[in-house]
Amino acid sequence: MKYTTIVSVGSLAAVALAKWDGVAPPAPTSFATQVIQAIDQPQVTQAPAAEDKENFLQGKVYANGYYSSEVMSLAIPSLANQALAPQASKVAKEPSFFWMDKMDKVPMIKEFVADAKKKGGDQVIPLVVYDLPDRDCSALASNGELSNANGGAAKYREYIAAIKKELQAAAPIRFVLVIEPDSLANLVTNMDKQKCAGAAANYRSLTVMALKELNLPNVRMYLDAGHGGWLGWDANLGKAAKLFADIYKQAGSPKSVRGLATNVANYNSWDASCASYTKGNEQCNEKRYIEKLGPELAKKGFPAHFIMDTSRNGVQPTKQIEWGNWCNVIGTGFGKRPTANTGNEMLDAFVWIKPGGECDGTSNTSAARYDGKCGSPDALKPAPEAGSWFQAYFEQLLTNAEAGAWPASGS
Ligand SMILES: *[C@@H]1O[C@H](CO)[C@@H](O)[C@H](O)[C@H]1NC(C)=O
Repeated sequence: MKYTTIVSVGSLAAVALAKWDGVAPPAPTSFATQVIQAIDQPQVTQAPAAEDKENFLQGKVYANGYYSSEVMSLAIPSLANQALAPQASKVAKEPSFFWMDKMDKVPMIKEFVADAKKKGGDQVIPLVVYDLPDRDCSALASNGELSNANGGAAKYREYIAAIKKELQAAAPIRFVLVIEPDSLANLVTNMDKQKCAGAAANYRSLTVMALKELNLPNVRMYLDAGHGGWLGWDANLGKAAKLFADIYKQAGSPKSVRGLATNVANYNSWDASCASYTKGNEQCNEKRYIEKLGPELAKKGFPAHFIMDTSRNGVQPTKQIEWGNWCNVIGTGFGKRPTANTGNEMLDAFVWIKPGGECDGTSNTSAARYDGKCGSPDALKPAPEAGSWFQAYFEQLLTNAEAGAWPASGS
């Protein structure tokens, strides 16, 4: 699969960050107040989740200033449909994960910590660790900066050490980390691809290293577990459970590893009934997937909890031509807003891991990172490079946001 966050640094990122400090200031209220202001009526009427101190996402989750400024400073002024502006400004206040997809993103942690402290110290900062050598081994769109050929393993150790330093320095501020989207899932199903086979040994050993190093009291980690339409198939599920449990145990069953993240940057529903394109796979939604995977992992000594990415699953059934199509799929909308009130004991939270509006991959067939999935008829075009702001896609997500995701009045 795909995606990276963020723009080539220097251009949009610099603009966004410059504006973040100056303009569009968050009101001098706490983040909780901002969220309450953003929500005119409750979306979900479940009872509050029973308190679980290990589930950091029950705390106040930090809405990162980088994404907010992308939305407030860049997206809203250029909305083709200005009627969507009120909803867009609500999106800006939701917590989405920040992807450290390059080593030079790590220093951003400092900025977030300072910002979170300003807004009221007790916030949980959500981040994605995403820089393995030969990343995105079965696709092209999100190939990263490190490879085995350029000494990537040693550089990755530096990357993890740099993250560790920031997280330790920030204590008692807490963090939730999603570890390396797609990497282990690729080892389950894509070992026939030369790049994946070549990357496999390092994916495993470096993931184990990362879990050990980042096993800190103020951190909870979720390993990426693909999604039901990928690893939920009977032929894959047992292999996936074995791999995740092996990695977990090789890392010494770290206390900070809370479980697994599913549906990252993907479009599956939580519990919708099976659609025609899911035929043959009982794990047609993420609820079924985790309810099958969880007990398998427990049997193997990994008592995993889960989080699910609902950033882009607001329209069901999806309009994918094939279930596996992952690139800028048309007709999608923002899904359930981040919340720890999931109504499911295994599911710690619905979260927005993919920042809605950041591109999955370029549709330019001459670009080095062009992947055929981004040229598929069900992919929105023209699309910029992975991680760059994709305004038309952002507007699509707003237009199709899950019913009840925000009040129709938009106020
Ligand atoms: C597509 O990519 C090629 C190669 O990088 C570049 O020269 C060209 O300008 C790009 N076209 C567009 C429309 O961005």
